[in-house]
Amino acid sequence: MSDIGGWHSYFSSPRTRVGKYEIGKLLGEGTFAKVKLAKNKETGESVAIKVIDKEKILKHKMLEQIKREISTMKLVKHPNIVQLLEVMASKTKIYIVMEYATGGELFDKIVHQGRLKEEQSRKYFQQLIDAVDYCHSRGVYHRDLKPENLLLDAAGNLKISDFGLSALPQQLREDGLLHTTCGTPNYVAPEVIVDKGYHGATVDLWSCGVILFVLMAGYLPFDDPNLLNLYRKIYRAEFSCPSWFSSGARKLLFKLLDPNAKTRYTAAQIYKNDWFRKGYKPAQHTEKLNVTLEDINAVFNDSSEFLVMEKKEMKPASMNAFDLISLSSGLDLSGLFEQPQDEERGETRFTSKKSAKEIVNTIEEAARPLGFNVQIQNHKLKLQGDKQGRKGQLSVSTQVFEVAPSLFMVELSKNNGDTIEYNHFCKNLSKGLKDIVWKAEEADTASGN
Ligand code: ADE
Repeated sequence: MSDIGGWHSYFSSPRTRVGKYEIGKLLGEGTFAKVKLAKNKETGESVAIKVIDKEKILKHKMLEQIKREISTMKLVKHPNIVQLLEVMASKTKIYIVMEYATGGELFDKIVHQGRLKEEQSRKYFQQLIDAVDYCHSRGVYHRDLKPENLLLDAAGNLKISDFGLSALPQQLREDGLLHTTCGTPNYVAPEVIVDKGYHGATVDLWSCGVILFVLMAGYLPFDDPNLLNLYRKIYRAEFSCPSWFSSGARKLLFKLLDPNAKTRYTAAQIYKNDWFRKGYKPAQHTEKLNVTLEDINAVFNDSSEFLVMEKKEMKPASMNAFDLISLSSGLDLSGLFEQPQDEERGETRFTSKKSAKEIVNTIEEAARPLGFNVQIQNHKLKLQGDKQGRKGQLSVSTQVFEVAPSLFMVELSKNNGDTIEYNHFCKNLSKGLKDIVWKAEEADTASGN
């Protein structure tokens, strides 16, 4: 169990609520943004929320660009692209709510399972090209296609993430330094490296070629520990295919990894390619988009009527079966909720059906008349005896756990002082708590068992 700062935390860490979403764990982190898992509390649906710091955007003069890119993301709706759901803002942050791809990164699969079979690689490549070409046809270019941006949904289908936002001018990212900004240039086309000016579509198709190679080979076509050597290899398109690549795949790869952007395969040529066409089923995306920019403008318009509040919600820590079992001796849970328990260690537990807030208030009301100084800090509760006992001042902390919906377990534990005094205190406290203490026997009687 958690013990923060020497006494048990009363509640688990606060959960942040933004609009109807409860913010959860971190999924990924970039220069300007963090992506967090979140839950729509109205529908129960999981989403991914990109949280962008407004100040950072303003500092880097990227506001107009971000606005344009969010509008662009609204234009794309395709089964193989992570869908933008809504955009919100607080005074300091912008929240981009997206579809959550539960299957994680495609390349984690390669890291764990090794290279993919040709059929499987072809399926992902077909989905990749379908989505990339769909975006190109709407004037949207990714320009940063790389493994981190390829996710999988629950059904194992590819989902490209960050289409649009990643199409920010390279020079404006992270201090304007290209080599630190892009991280690895392994997926970047030769014309980007020499910075001659490039066309978004051909650059994306080069990256698709690198991705196809990695899926089938399990390693990169262009790699070198020395950055200059790596650039040279990319510039000359110096790569060779491993023996297990079929001749059809090789031919297509040489057409995609063509250092000359003018002769490189276009999407139209890829669709005609025999290797690509095998089993290809174009994605269905018939839904008409109703694109309005009102909400986007509203988000950047600092008038408070459009701003959402970021609220911290305190919730009692929840307990799962493993936590409960670890508290009990063996697998027998019957002793867990009965008093007296671990008197030697100074731990007492009881259950209550009252709300966590009522439990806190009742403990406070019961402890004060007993001469205890009660500290409640962010819903944490510490009870400090006002006089020195045999073994120093008695100090008790409490924690509430949610063991089931509307059933709480309250744990009292002694931080300092004499155990006999502590047990005496618990007895007195339990008198004050009699309407919330819910011993096992009473519970049985109450439920008619
Ligand atoms: N990481 C970044 N974006 C994500 C998303 N939409 N779903 C799952 N993980 C992500």
